[in-house]
Amino acid sequence: MQSFNWNLPTEIRFGSGKLAEAGAVCRRFGTRCLVVSTATTPWLHALLERVQGILSTAGIAMTHFDGIRANPTTEQITAGAALARRFRAEMVLGLGGGSSMDAAKAIAVEATHPGSSWDYLWFRETQPTEQTLPVVALTTTSGTGSQVTQVAVVTKADERCKSAIYNDMILPRVAIVDPELMCSVPRRMTAFTGFDAFTHAFESSLHPGCHGLIDMMAREAISLVLHWLPKALDHGDDIEARSGMALADTLAGLCIRSAGVTLPHGMAMAIGGMYPGVAHGQALAIVYPAFAAFTADAAPARFAWLARQLDPSLHGAADAVAAARSASLINDFIVRIGISDKLSNVGVPRDELDSLAAACMVLSDYKNNPRVATAEEMRALVLRSW
Ligand SMILES: [Fe+2]
Repeated sequence: MQSFNWNLPTEIRFGSGKLAEAGAVCRRFGTRCLVVSTATTPWLHALLERVQGILSTAGIAMTHFDGIRANPTTEQITAGAALARRFRAEMVLGLGGGSSMDAAKAIAVEATHPGSSWDYLWFRETQPTEQTLPVVALTTTSGTGSQVTQVAVVTKADERCKSAIYNDMILPRVAIVDPELMCSVPRRMTAFTGFDAFTHAFESSLHPGCHGLIDMMAREAISLVLHWLPKALDHGDDIEARSGMALADTLAGLCIRSAGVTLPHGMAMAIGGMYPGVAHGQALAIVYPAFAAFTADAAPARFAWLARQLDPSLHGAADAVAAARSASLINDFIVRIGISDKLSNVGVPRDELDSLAAACMVLSDYKNNPRVATAEEMRALVLRSW
C-alpha cells in the first residue's frame, strides 16, 4: 500500500443548525469581520441578517462586501481587500458558494500583502505569508469543496485567464457546513455544483497523489452524489438529500486538498477563463464525456468501478468491458441531471478552438491525468466537446 502524510488543519462543523456556531467560531479571530458574498438577493439578505445577529451576539462587528460575481476577478478582489483594510478586518468570512469562499481567501491575502492577488498565484516565487487574515468558510452550496481547500480560483479578465492561489495560508481555519442553508439553491446551480463535487472525487482517485484514505473518501463521495443529487434536484428542500450532497462535497474537497484534479479541470479552468459566462460545473459537464472516452483505457479499474456504480448490471463484466461503457454512462448521468451541453451552445466560436486547446495546457492539471494529452489530442478533445 502507498505510504502517505495526512493533515487537516481546517476544523469542520457539519450539520443542520451549525450556522448558530458562527459567532463562537469567529470570536477566536477577533472582533471585526469582513463578510464576502455575491450580489445580495432577498434570500441572501435574510441570511446576512441572521449572520449579523449571530456575530453581534458574540461581540463581533461586521461589514459586508457583496461585489463578488461568478468566476471572481482580480478587480473584485481588489475592491474587497480595500474594504477589509478600511474596516480593519481581523478575519474574512466567505458566505456562499465557491466564488464567495475563493474570493474571501484571495481578499485575505491581498488585504495584508503588497500588490494584488494575481501576484500570489501558485507558481509565483512570492507566496502568501502568515500575515494572511484568517478565513472562515460558510458554504451555502454543495460542490466546490472550497471550504476545506487551500485553493482560491481567480480570473484576470483582461487576459481572459483563470488561475489560482494555492497555499495552506488560505485554508479556512473553520468550515461551517449547514445543509439547511442549501435547501433554496436553484435546481440548475444544484446540478452544476453537485457535478463539480463528483468530478473532484473522481479526478482525485485518478491523480498520482491518490492514496488509501483519499480512495476511500472519493468512492464514498461519488456514491453519495449518484444517490442524492437526483433526489436534491427533484426535491430541493429534502434535508436528507442536501445533507448527503453536503457530505459528498466536503469529502470530495478533502480529496482535492490532498491529491488534486486532472485533465477535465485544466480544460474547465481554460473555458471559464476565456468565457466567464460558463459556470465551472457546466464546463466540466461539457468536457467529461470526451475526457472519459480519452482516458478510460489508461485507468480501466477506476473507470470500470465508476461504470458499475452507474450501471449495476456491469458488476459481472470484466474491467475492460465496463470501462469501455463509462463515457456513455457518464454522459447519461449528465443528461439525467439536466446539464448536458456543448461548447458550441455556450458561445465558444469555432475559430477560437485552437487557442482554447492551447489554454487547456497552461495549468499542469492535464499532466496528472492517467493519459497525458499531446497538443493534437487536446485539440481533438476540445473539438469533440464543441
Ligand atoms: Fe471544481
